[in-house]
Amino acid sequence: MAQESHIDPNNLPQHIAVIMDGNGRWAKNHNKVRVFGHQNGVQAVREISEGAAELQIPYLTLFAFSKENWNRPAFEVNTLMKLFVKTMDKELSTLNKNNIRLNAIGDVTSLPKETYKALLKGMQATSHNDGMVLTLALNYSSRWEILSAIKKYGTMVKNGEIKPELIDEEFFNGLLETSDMPDPDLLIRTSGECRVSNYLLWQLSYSELYFTDVLWPDFNKSHLHEAIRTYQNRERRFGLTGEQLINS
Ligand code: FPP
Repeated sequence: MAQESHIDPNNLPQHIAVIMDGNGRWAKNHNKVRVFGHQNGVQAVREISEGAAELQIPYLTLFAFSKENWNRPAFEVNTLMKLFVKTMDKELSTLNKNNIRLNAIGDVTSLPKETYKALLKGMQATSHNDGMVLTLALNYSSRWEILSAIKKYGTMVKNGEIKPELIDEEFFNGLLETSDMPDPDLLIRTSGECRVSNYLLWQLSYSELYFTDVLWPDFNKSHLHEAIRTYQNRERRFGLTGEQLINS
């Protein structure tokens, strides 16, 4: 709470996107196999979801599995898929207790059947909640999302549902997986890597980027608060000059 008191409640990010990185290195540092890092990453997911909900952040979006992650060793992929099932089942009551609605973006219908089923069950069981929306990006990659949107658009043009010259940002937004949420104000990436890795490329256009060396399993509420305080000290200009912002 002492940490939270330094957070300005009137300048909270409305949407925080997170790249949860560093599980494998965390496991290595503990002389364990990679999946041990993912298993311990679940605690950080719980902690950050709870911390964001406490601050009444409306949207939290976690990059849980990318399209490129299928190329990892089969054992790691299978363990991750089982971990998603187990976690979604286990955390349902906590999500409901915190009034959190579970949501997903990505090519989720191509997930293994059990993972997809657990996801649908979690989304249905929390659909009545009107607090924070916790979105898992699962089997997601931004280029896949943008290409899918273009394919939808092409079909609409072909069927005469839209004139090609009428496309604008708002319309394109509506074709994306994130059509029902605002763009992220803040992107957090753990583990010291400074890149966006095919995550929300369109939506991050004006997001503040925050990189920390902390490995994901170690990331806790006070780290989240630190990221939000840093965000609150940034000047967001959206293409304007600093002087224009002062005079507005
Ligand atoms: C990246 O770290 C992490 C992932 C690909 C998986 C993220 C999954 C979790 C945190 C598990 C639980 C999640 C949910 C939503 C239940 P890395 O493996 O690339 O780490 P490294 O760069 O150190 O190897």
